[in-house]
Amino acid sequence: MENTPVERKKRVLSLIQPTAVPTLGNYLGALKNWKNMSEDYDCIYGVADLHALTIHPDPASLRKQSLEMFALMLSVGLDPEKNIVFFQSHVHTHSELAWILNCYTQFGEASRMTQFKEKSAKHAGNITVGLFDYPVLMAADILIYQADFVPVGADQKQHLELARDIADRFNTMRGNTFVLPEPFIGKVGAKISSLQDPTQKMSKSDPNPKASISLLDPPEVILKKFKSAVTDSEAVVRYADGKDGINNLMAIYSCCTGKSFEEIENEFAGKGYGDFKVAVAESVIEELRPVQDNFKRLIADKAYLNEVAKNGAQAATRISQRTLAKVQKKVGLYMP
Ligand code: TRP
Repeated sequence: MENTPVERKKRVLSLIQPTAVPTLGNYLGALKNWKNMSEDYDCIYGVADLHALTIHPDPASLRKQSLEMFALMLSVGLDPEKNIVFFQSHVHTHSELAWILNCYTQFGEASRMTQFKEKSAKHAGNITVGLFDYPVLMAADILIYQADFVPVGADQKQHLELARDIADRFNTMRGNTFVLPEPFIGKVGAKISSLQDPTQKMSKSDPNPKASISLLDPPEVILKKFKSAVTDSEAVVRYADGKDGINNLMAIYSCCTGKSFEEIENEFAGKGYGDFKVAVAESVIEELRPVQDNFKRLIADKAYLNEVAKNGAQAATRISQRTLAKVQKKVGLYMP
């Protein structure tokens, strides 16, 4: 008789910080893919509210933004029946594993994290241990679910490598315990740049509000921002080296309409940047319309959100508890 093993779906995990409303860049680069992935993967998505504490947000704002981020995750199409969606702080196992992993992380390797170096240079008067420890909590988020893949942007890649190093060290010292997570590289369209400085990534922390599109920007604001997007003086819509502004608008338009760069070049042959910018803005407005409609409906239904959060936390706790128990045993904690 042939041996047919039951195939377990690979597990994908990602958390997102509730510090600001995600940008169009976050959406086209990551969130938009999330909803399609639940067919092929076992997906777990969370609001990283504990990570947000490292920069001392105003408590009322954090509370509000966390719920909004949760509603947004559902608004982009994550189905809580098919995925686990939760708040990091509702699942106690993350913090407990993080403590143990602290003891398996070298001070030197944590000190080498680029983001820590950058952030501590920027906030020299407020370098908390939490900021330093941030990547270890992130490692715990990932390893506690035995995640196979983690969709991460370039800025989080080093943290994912640290998670792998910690897992590998633990497995070597205490026996095989953790799956080593791999970065998940999504489809192209992943890199959307600032509208004001197209050599930089579109970032939700950009101080210039014209540089990025928030997922919740109303249509007239989106139009205005695209109209003031930085381009070049050639006045020809074509994809080429050195035309970062136009290349970026073409990438956005392509993501929202499904058209290829060639089709876009043909469509706008003989037309100026003005027409093109309006077309890009309209495609973005259409792309975001269902997300914004969903968000309006969900954010008004707190009872539903609370119910989804409760179920998500229960499911996440159940899965993560298994890993935590294994780890506690392996490190020698007495368990009656
Ligand atoms: N540090 C990530 C960010 O700022 C958020 C995050 C926290 C995360 N825990 C995670 C991402 C686990 C992926 C997996 O974007």
